Amino acid sequence: MVTLSSRLRPLMQRGCDFLGTKTAIMGGAMSWISERNLVAAISNADGFGVLACGSMSPDLLRAEIQGTRTLTRMPFGVNLITMHPQLDELIDVCLEEKVGHIVLAGGVPSAPAVKRVKDGGAKLICFTPALALGKRLVRMGADAIVIEGMEAGGHIGPVSTSVLSQEILPTLSSEVPVFVAGGIGRGETIVSYLEMGASGVQLGTLFVCANECIAHENFKKSFIRAAARDAVPTPQLDPRFPVIPVRAIVNEGTKLFLDKQREVISKFDAGELTKEAAQLEIEHFWAGALRRAVIDGDTENGSLMAGQIVGVVKDEQPTAAILAELIRQAEQALLHREL
Ligand SMILES: Cc1cc2nc3c(=O)[nH]c(=O)nc-3n(C[C@H](O)[C@H](O)[C@H](O)COP(=O)(O)O)c2cc1C
Repeated sequence: MVTLSSRLRPLMQRGCDFLGTKTAIMGGAMSWISERNLVAAISNADGFGVLACGSMSPDLLRAEIQGTRTLTRMPFGVNLITMHPQLDELIDVCLEEKVGHIVLAGGVPSAPAVKRVKDGGAKLICFTPALALGKRLVRMGADAIVIEGMEAGGHIGPVSTSVLSQEILPTLSSEVPVFVAGGIGRGETIVSYLEMGASGVQLGTLFVCANECIAHENFKKSFIRAAARDAVPTPQLDPRFPVIPVRAIVNEGTKLFLDKQREVISKFDAGELTKEAAQLEIEHFWAGALRRAVIDGDTENGSLMAGQIVGVVKDEQPTAAILAELIRQAEQALLHREL
């Protein structure tokens, strides 16, 4: 059980009130990783776990929510991808299962999707990569915003967490709670974003090597071995064929992806492939790759999505120890300011 001091509590209060937790630390949804075990462990340790729905069907999501409830009585959220073909049904499952917080990720949600979440009584959390879009999302009905910098693991934008925070926090944090994500691995850093106006933070990479996380031991070992510089965005060979940037630890798959792009582009240049077919072949390369690494343990050819902060992950630890250490560091940082 975490008890915040009178120094840290006021900084986290707004985020805690919003999430219904004792700390304003969210465990960002990670496909295949953020299932019931890790999510419940984060919430039981006084953080806020978020289930990753990914490509789950409504029935699977319902089972996962119910499964999580058997492991924790604390609040947790669900992350839905806006382009999921059954988004409406997935929202309905969350509402029927009384999930208090729904995160709509992977693009700007439609007005009807926002309305569905809000009419159903859940709190809506959205991501923004820029101030103007953040303001628009708040006008549309977002109850809280996550800003995620390019240091993060998984799909990333082009701007760093520190720049996004300076651009967005001073304005948007007066309207709704804003949570900062990307490259956070220590309590001191959490304090600095809270002092800039953030209501809380969201971490992903740091939770992958939690004992409760079901990721394959090979996946965890790759995290423990990796340095910050090993986690790089997917390389794009030719601007005619854009690649959605995903930050991951370099492996054999990264090299094969370059070979694949080379092969497809030369076929396109030779008139053997249309532009659309070539683009599709490039996009399909990584299909199922995160699952291959996380679940099957194929760390050579799978996708080792990880943020730059992977460099500070040194061992496997209980989730509660990871959270307690973050809070200890945050408290220590604030204590030092008084000395
Ligand atoms: C392996 C992995 C998978 C991820 N999958 C998702 C996802 O499915 N949906 C999502 O919104 N964010 C996803 N993220 C981003 C996290 O939710 C979180 O915002 C991010 O990890 C925070 O940055 P950090 O990795 O520097 O802590 C993923 C991140 C990682 C490392």
